[in-house]
Amino acid sequence: MSHPPLLIVVLAAGKGVRMRSSRPKVLHGIGGRSMLGHVLATATAAGAAKIALVVAPGQEQVRAEAEKMVPGIAIFEQQTQAGTADAVLAAAPAIAAHQGDTLVMFADTPLIRPETLAAMVSVLDTGAAVSVLGFEPADLTGYGRVLCDANGDVTAIREQKDASPAERTVRLCNAGAMAFRVDGLVDLLKAIDNKNASAEYYLTDAVALARARGKAVRVAVGSVEDAMGVNSRLQLAEAEAAFQQRARRRAMEEGVTLVAPETVWFSYDTKLGRDVVIEPNVVFAPGVTVDDDVTILAHCHIASARIRQGARVGPFARLRPGADLGEGAHVGNFVEVKAAVLEKGAKANHLSYIGDGHVGADANIGAGTIFCNYDGFDKHRTIIGKGAFVGSNSSLVAPVTIGDGAYVGSGSVITRNVEPDSLVVERAPLEVRPGWAAKFRQMKQRRKKRA
Ligand code: UD1
Ligand code: MG
Repeated sequence: MSHPPLLIVVLAAGKGVRMRSSRPKVLHGIGGRSMLGHVLATATAAGAAKIALVVAPGQEQVRAEAEKMVPGIAIFEQQTQAGTADAVLAAAPAIAAHQGDTLVMFADTPLIRPETLAAMVSVLDTGAAVSVLGFEPADLTGYGRVLCDANGDVTAIREQKDASPAERTVRLCNAGAMAFRVDGLVDLLKAIDNKNASAEYYLTDAVALARARGKAVRVAVGSVEDAMGVNSRLQLAEAEAAFQQRARRRAMEEGVTLVAPETVWFSYDTKLGRDVVIEPNVVFAPGVTVDDDVTILAHCHIASARIRQGARVGPFARLRPGADLGEGAHVGNFVEVKAAVLEKGAKANHLSYIGDGHVGADANIGAGTIFCNYDGFDKHRTIIGKGAFVGSNSSLVAPVTIGDGAYVGSGSVITRNVEPDSLVVERAPLEVRPGWAAKFRQMKQRRKKRA
């Protein structure tokens, strides 16, 4: 069924005082992206023809985040935080200019999904002028209660502070998002007053007002996660947990083995191929793509990295931005890789730093090898040719190139380029003095006796 074009108004101007943060509430993160970012992505995915954002004066970071997510987004300022209805009215020019449905979302409700918004719009197709998103949380505290008549139509939403003891027992709560198919929506919202326990202009009062004007209001019921509103750090952690559960379930459904799902942490954009196996305690920061048949052993941290088919990572590996592991490459315990490519079959199995480099196919980086990439001012590159062998505990002082098939003796400090297929070794001459230690001990023991 085709719907009228959709304007989505996202409210982000609230004070968020319970976060106790110098950062605006809606910029706090879930799964590696701000709550605002999640909500704008959902609004976009829901097919919004236009998105309007309401911010408080001076929220430059909020504006910047929104403009990054949705270039050209219409941004409005709510001068004082006088309530959710007042916030929507800050976007009155966009609402008045729009022909179609209007949906209001809260930027502090990050887990709402596009299909939930679609369900709310479908409720409008049943002839309702207003649709609200209801849900049944385990803990009702702080939520507005959705009051219904005998037909199941909504008569009012009562904020907890204003509810009677009987109304407080109602389990159906307001998730916050509301959709409208109303001519003169701005006038309806302007009719809302602030005669309530908080002295705020409640968007939720639009329900009783619409009813009074003979319009139907109906509820779309969503899941608890969809509706989770974040007003405190505790709720932020609860929303993160719910996000992670969703991400883990999706990964497993798509063919990934999670040995201990509850210990693996994903970002909003983590991409995983089939038959990937992930052991316990692995964290994916944003920007990671993992191809098929990759194994990630326990205790790894991975950020902005590409891991190609059949590669093996960890245990205890750290892949930083720009790490690109080729097919079948191995990166083992206590190895850090940053802005470096390991070509197919290359291996760095133990205790190394590989930064700003390129390691050719099938090259072997021995234990304790360090790419000395930084001189205190600039970063320099290290290039290792294909099939090269770097002996353990070598320092490669960049910029430096080790040719294809070359061999670096263990413990070397390499400061010049090395020709293909040559041996390079930088070491003080080895000296062995047979019997020296025995004589030394005898001499020391004699002296001790004499004293
Ligand atoms: C709101 C609902 C409540 C619902 C709950 C769900 C109202 C009156 N109450 O309460 O029924 O159960 O969400 O989480 O709508 N905002 C502004 N300007 C303001 C006030 C708020 O932009 O002046 C924004 C906030 O940034 C936030 C959203 O609106 O994104 C909701 O505001 P908040 O203060 O968190 O409302 P709740 O008390 O959670
Ligand atoms: Mg809230």
